[in-house]
Amino acid sequence: MPQKIIIDTDPGIDDAMAILFALKAPELEVVGLTTIYGNVHTDLATQNALRLVELAHRPDIPVAHGADLPLVTPLKQVAHHVHGVDGFGNTNQPPPRGKPIDPSAAQFIVEMVMAQPGEITLVSTGPLTNLALALALEPRLIEAVAGVVLMGGAAFVNGNVTPAAEANIYKDPHAADVVFTAGWPLTMVGLDVTTKIVMTSDYIADLRSAGTRTTHFIDTINPFYMTYYCQTYHGLNGMHVHDPAAIAYVVDPSLFATLSAPVRVITDGIATGLTLPDCHQDWDIPNGWTDQPLAQICIDVDAARLLNLYRSYITRPD
Ligand code: BDR
Ligand code: CA
Repeated sequence: MPQKIIIDTDPGIDDAMAILFALKAPELEVVGLTTIYGNVHTDLATQNALRLVELAHRPDIPVAHGADLPLVTPLKQVAHHVHGVDGFGNTNQPPPRGKPIDPSAAQFIVEMVMAQPGEITLVSTGPLTNLALALALEPRLIEAVAGVVLMGGAAFVNGNVTPAAEANIYKDPHAADVVFTAGWPLTMVGLDVTTKIVMTSDYIADLRSAGTRTTHFIDTINPFYMTYYCQTYHGLNGMHVHDPAAIAYVVDPSLFATLSAPVRVITDGIATGLTLPDCHQDWDIPNGWTDQPLAQICIDVDAARLLNLYRSYITRPD
């Protein structure tokens, strides 16, 4: 039986690459997309999620509109400089035909997970506001989810928006702290691993040669993102593989090495958005990490095997 997943997402170029990957993975059944601000505002994220399910000939997959603002902090700048003003590298995609469903993202998550306890994994590839709101609506989600896998954070490496913070955590650190301390089975796929995986321009060209609608779309939206990486990472000829790595974890966790530790998120000051694990866990004086649930933190990845897996699934016929 495929693993059912809901993808909470801010599409976004790598979000698009993650969603299209999930839709082609035989191990997964995507039962819904929920949207969040981050790379673009939530309204556009919703439009883009609808575009993606239509591109993949899966307009039956519900798309639920999520929070427009973080829990506590003001909305930070969306990532137009990374993903383009349209979230798809300024490629002028046609409007979607479909509409989002009525329930909000948080309501949809609660309804779906509580109706099928133990069956649905939540995969987050954006800021964590919707997951925190869903927990507030229904605390029993903690026992009812099959798991939570999130792309976000940086445990033992620098961030990518500040030295401390990765973008998804930075944009709603309060929600992220709620999600990390909730006590549900949680795996963090952060910059510790995603920056070890690089898709080069040759790799993308190889995908394009499959000649499908999906690989054509990926090739079309990628140049803007590649240029950003080249300019930001000292001439890097390729892109870090963030959001598809979270999907790859659900498909095949053996691609990753993990360690277990409680993680707290710093919510103010210069280290806002820092995901700080407690690898000691035996302090004389209790602290904010004491008795907090363990997260599985991905600390290493077989990047070559992951890239092969991605290629073999994304190039399947549409
Ligand atoms: C994360 O930030 C966004 O720009 C990407 O889509 C990814 O989810 C990487 O830090
Ligand atoms: Ca994302």
